[in-house]
Amino acid sequence: MSFDLLVKNASLPDGRTGIDIACRNGAIEAVEADILADAKQTIDAAGKLVSPPFVDSHFHMDATLSLGLPRMNQSGTLLEGIALWGELKDVLTVEAVVERALKYCDLAVSQGLLAIRSHVDVCDGRLIGVEGLLEVRERVKPYIDLQLVAFPQDGLFRSANAEKNLLKALDMGVDIVGGIPHFERTMEDGARSVRRLCEIAAERSLMVDMHCDETDDPLSRHIETLAYETLRLGLQGQVAGSHLTSMHSMDNYYVSKLLPLIAEAEIHAIANPLINITLQGRHDSYPKRRGQTRVPEMRAFGINVAFGHDCVMDPWYSMGSGDMLEVASMGLHVAQMTSRDAIRYCYDCVTTHPANAMGLQGYGLEKGCNADFVLLQACDTIEAIRLRATRLAVVKAGRVIAKTPSRQTQLLIGGRPEIVDQADYAPVDEMRGSSDPDC
Ligand code: FE2
Repeated sequence: MSFDLLVKNASLPDGRTGIDIACRNGAIEAVEADILADAKQTIDAAGKLVSPPFVDSHFHMDATLSLGLPRMNQSGTLLEGIALWGELKDVLTVEAVVERALKYCDLAVSQGLLAIRSHVDVCDGRLIGVEGLLEVRERVKPYIDLQLVAFPQDGLFRSANAEKNLLKALDMGVDIVGGIPHFERTMEDGARSVRRLCEIAAERSLMVDMHCDETDDPLSRHIETLAYETLRLGLQGQVAGSHLTSMHSMDNYYVSKLLPLIAEAEIHAIANPLINITLQGRHDSYPKRRGQTRVPEMRAFGINVAFGHDCVMDPWYSMGSGDMLEVASMGLHVAQMTSRDAIRYCYDCVTTHPANAMGLQGYGLEKGCNADFVLLQACDTIEAIRLRATRLAVVKAGRVIAKTPSRQTQLLIGGRPEIVDQADYAPVDEMRGSSDPDC
């Protein structure tokens, strides 16, 4: 029996070591120790981590790589970013959107990021971003699962024709209903927009992913309405609340009532740590609020929490590299989730949790799953985050689609080892469970 691809001696995110993974016809056929079989291609993982691909459940691909167009964000605030994007929208072309998005997708693949949910602004009457990203979704289909969210960036009610454009975008094939209630003119309009958008989703049997309460205002409580509408319309498990930063500043008693409601509605919570640690708290002097939503508390309530990248080199964020390990690293720092268990959880926030939020089919490293995975230059998920580990190989449908040489440095100081490999620095108090000297 011959396989298309056989990976030998892998460590898995759940802690298993010495595992072989056999793939055929784009699917994983076996995950066990010592598989003895022929394969067209064999990869020796040498005890290193093989992980399901990284998943980014919150991104803006219509704006990515536009940094500097038409100028830089001087204040660093969300509001100047939105204003800047408004200036850029009028001069966008489909070709430019497609070119930048494809370039970002190349970067994503190189980082083992094979599923992305991107919001696309529908407040541009020409729907340039929608047209461009629908084309990109088709072109990257062989290697990236790209979901698109119809996002009324300037407000469903605040922006003329936003609802008409949103419905048109959905008719054109955009997958998911988005929103931005905290940007509507009033709290009442915000709540109305949540209701209307959830109704549109229910009528069309679509998922919802709303930018929700991305503000430091503790009284921004649209997540409550989102959870209520989710329950009223029977959308449990189909709705995500993105950002949720006001929860950081909310009264603790109110949050103690809110979290069970979010859990009951089975809402997926998507935090965006890189962006919100820079955007939030801008109106504070000192102390400055961090502005990240309450990740450990939501975890304790069994709410599915994912971390998104949100932006890379655009009007809101001038940094970023498509590296979901950087996102996980920032998330754990900001949330102070530093126990071994909590760090492992943060790894799940950029893999299995966003896959769950996006409803990805066949995701994972079990028999019968899609043969999609990443070989990292690290022995476990904690080390992967600590090192932002090199993606040695990226596999899609049982085929290697990207390779990166291992990262090593030659030392020229004498009297010390000649080669430094960052993955050699294990914690002294932890048995890694592998006999491989590299791990
Ligand atoms: Fe966003």
